[in-house]
Amino acid sequence: MSYYARTQVYKVDAVTPEAEPIAIAAETLRRGGLVAFPTETVYGLGANALDAAAVAHIFEAKGRPATDPLIVHIAALDALETAAREVPAVALDLARRFWPGPLTLVLKRAAGIAPNVSAGRETVGVRLPSHPVARALLLAVGVPVAAPSANLFAHTSPTTAQHVLDDLKDRVDVVLDGGAASVGVESTVLDLTGDAPTVLRPGGVAVEALRALLPDLVYTPKYLSEHESAQGPGMLLRHYSPRAELLLYAGEAGAARAAMRAAAERLLRENGRVGVLAYDEDRAVFDGLAVETAALGSESDLEQVSRRLYAGLRDLDARKVDSILARGTIRTGLGAAIWDRLVRAAEGRVIEVE
Ligand code: TXA
Ligand code: MG
Repeated sequence: MSYYARTQVYKVDAVTPEAEPIAIAAETLRRGGLVAFPTETVYGLGANALDAAAVAHIFEAKGRPATDPLIVHIAALDALETAAREVPAVALDLARRFWPGPLTLVLKRAAGIAPNVSAGRETVGVRLPSHPVARALLLAVGVPVAAPSANLFAHTSPTTAQHVLDDLKDRVDVVLDGGAASVGVESTVLDLTGDAPTVLRPGGVAVEALRALLPDLVYTPKYLSEHESAQGPGMLLRHYSPRAELLLYAGEAGAARAAMRAAAERLLRENGRVGVLAYDEDRAVFDGLAVETAALGSESDLEQVSRRLYAGLRDLDARKVDSILARGTIRTGLGAAIWDRLVRAAEGRVIEVE
């Protein structure tokens, strides 16, 4: 069963959101509907986090397993207590430093939050987004809003309203179209409920920036296959996936480029349609080959790469490629999030070259 709704799309100014579409979207949330809205990271699929029936519709619309918890979005720091309880001092320090922005804090869940938001856990992920449309909507609705990324389960995350419609048309009541997301990868998820602060997902806030405040920070990337996934939510290896098979190359850049060129030649000989997720520095490698290219911009501009990553994957899918070749870049700063998404999109098909 899937959630059905006749989707209404409203354009809204990304800097100074107009009052009317915000009011319509807020009213839709208040009466238990679903609203997709832009955040600085990716578009979210929102429901009133206090309303278990509305939250259940998120899982239905996405085809998301009920075991995978949702992030709760709040309008201001003083609303944190509506989402979380027994908030440690360090969480407030982090919130003052990184909010509004792409950091999600996992805390103890407040009594009012619907248990299905947290997939039955006693904890809840909370974030205060910086996008003016998200903030205006959260202020107008006056309740915490549960919102995962607004894509079908395990598919590539949406960075534009069109991406949302491509996945969820007639599965969401309202889409606020505020243009393209500026960060392009999801928030960093930081668990503050265990013995040591632990990064569960690298994202828009660099792990290094968190470590400066949290010397005992733990980050050990884990990529679990489907049957192991019970160990941790959201750690599924298959995630963020395009329809095409993604092959991810890692190792010394020159050797990786040579291996990618050889793979492209082989796949083309086998009559496959080949896509390349290409940094500017890699484009000449494919000269003379009939590959489809999605440009990530310069490898040295990781902010641009993350902004273009999901759109590039969706674009190559739309061009009906069978395979996508991509190369991993540095794994520090935003690079950690980019690498994480590429590995999951590749479902672990990482080719390490010498
Ligand atoms: O940037 C973002 O975080 C976007 C925008 C819309 O805010 N949202 C997003 O949500 O990426 P989603 O549902 O696609 O990813 C949420 C992930 C879960 O898969 C899980 O890894 C983690 O956040 N998470 C949420 N609540 C958690 C909890 N209580 N315990 C552990 N992990 C949690
Ligand atoms: Mg997601």
